Amino acid sequence: MIGLNRVIQGDCLEILRQIPDNSVDVAFADPPFNLNKKYSSYKDRRAYAEYLSWCHDWIAELVRVTKPSGSIFLHNIPRWLTYYAAFLNEMADFKH
Ligand SMILES: C[S@@+](CC[C@H](N)C(=O)[O-])C[C@H]1O[C@@H](n2cnc3c(N)ncnc32)[C@H](O)[C@@H]1O
Repeated sequence: MIGLNRVIQGDCLEILRQIPDNSVDVAFADPPFNLNKKYSSYKDRRAYAEYLSWCHDWIAELVRVTKPSGSIFLHNIPRWLTYYAAFLNEMADFKH
């Protein structure tokens, strides 16, 4: 199912768990910002801790699948990026 030059639609955690360790050159995420935005199939207002726990889980998966020589780019609002920085500092090496 997972391969080159394919667009895969699905739950990010379910998909990421099918990807081998250290196999990705570049990972980019533009997740929901938990701002109660209207999505067709996603409720964008989770409890604070629940949202952060979910983010921690998919960020950990991105770190696992990304090669040591690869790069991870995460897009979010500053409020959540402060937590992302803490997660990443525990899991990966900050370059720039
Ligand atoms: C900020 S928007 C990103 C939009 C995207 N960059 C685009 O240009 O279409 C966040 C997106 O994450 C999706 N999403 C929410 N939960 C998800 C999940 N568990 N797995 C994958 N995508 C999810 C939402 O449906 C929404 O489309």
